[in-house]
Amino acid sequence: MFMSKSVPAALRVLRNTAQFSAVRTLATATTGPVLNKNPATGNYVVTMIPGDGIGPEISKSVKEIYAAANVPIEWEEVDVTPVIREGKTVIPDEALHSVQKNKIALKGPLATPIGKGHVSLNLTLRRTFDLYANVRPCKSIVGYKTLYDNVNTVLIRENTEGEYSGIEHEVIDGVVQSIKLITREASERCARYAFEYAVANGRERVTAVHKANIMKMSDGLFLSACRDIAQEYPQIKFDDVLLDRACLHVVQDPHIYADAVMVMPNLYGDIISDMCAGLIGGLGLTPSGNIGKSASIFESVHGTAPDIAGQDKANPTALLLSSVMMLRHMKLEPFADTIESAVLKTIAEGKTLTGDLGGKSTNSQFTAEVIKNLA
Ligand code: NAI
Repeated sequence: MFMSKSVPAALRVLRNTAQFSAVRTLATATTGPVLNKNPATGNYVVTMIPGDGIGPEISKSVKEIYAAANVPIEWEEVDVTPVIREGKTVIPDEALHSVQKNKIALKGPLATPIGKGHVSLNLTLRRTFDLYANVRPCKSIVGYKTLYDNVNTVLIRENTEGEYSGIEHEVIDGVVQSIKLITREASERCARYAFEYAVANGRERVTAVHKANIMKMSDGLFLSACRDIAQEYPQIKFDDVLLDRACLHVVQDPHIYADAVMVMPNLYGDIISDMCAGLIGGLGLTPSGNIGKSASIFESVHGTAPDIAGQDKANPTALLLSSVMMLRHMKLEPFADTIESAVLKTIAEGKTLTGDLGGKSTNSQFTAEVIKNLA
């Protein structure tokens, strides 16, 4: 935990930020509920869930950079090792109360064992706090060359139902059934968030991605909800595209979606967002925000990276850029700009890259360089 010392000093840094600012791409659309402040210091209190695998390493990097940038927030660190209560996976009370009180959290990745009997803690968090829209922007980093230039996609994933409803059962031996649940209510609020995001971030179009030609009822309902909500936003164009065609577009020419907000059911968003991450340099670079009415949780798109955990090799950029989204959500734009600019500058300079970006530097060295670039 730390406290802000000198806000004006941090604000002075802004003069140098213009070149490496991603200009509001890493933003959200709403501010959500009133956040919790420490009455003694006036600083915001933010729940920090370090998570598993590389989570504690990249969370440490964020805390060091925030301390150096004098961001006026205090971290309340909580563990979310799952608790099984009455046969159900639940979040430990301390973590639950912390997010309920602070209404905003930054979260490292959490491991989910594959197989029977384990409910994903990520899903539990999303359901517990009703985090209905997952925002995943992917923007090329100036100076970091990939096969694709000027990628600028924004994807909004319905986050509470669809293929992730967790309703599965065995019909008879050797036959299982998984239910994809789609409701008008969840589809409409996700669609509305996509339009609000488009309005707030100057995007001209909302594109619904679906397979309503095959899943006529479930994806058909999602598409119909999007069409209905589109009527409320006559200033924003609306169109739709089949999932397979959208995948073809994204790998052939992602610029097709540069002016759009893509909105889609849960599973499609999970897959296409990893594909978009590949266009800009991989999972180590891609942030996200889980937006809810009563709380929002920001996290990287990547997982716990067990292959490199504990070796100081992780790239903290994705979590840092997730925290930048969080700061914009909290209306702390000057600090968001400062940190985003320092991170992007560090990558563009190319001297201190981590292994996933083709470099040899450690997480600690990358973090130290970002701190240098804050000034
Ligand atoms: P993963 O994202 O952890 O790793 C995939 C590959 O990307 C690995 O080679 C890894 O080293 C690399 N990578 C990921 N993040 C990196 C970073 N910041 N810096 C450098 N390299 C990075 O995906 P995987 O292996 O499929 O999942 C591992 C665990 O993470 C599983 O238990 C899974 O359930 C969990 N997971 C959790 C998520 C979350 O908490 N939101 C999201 C995705 C997976």
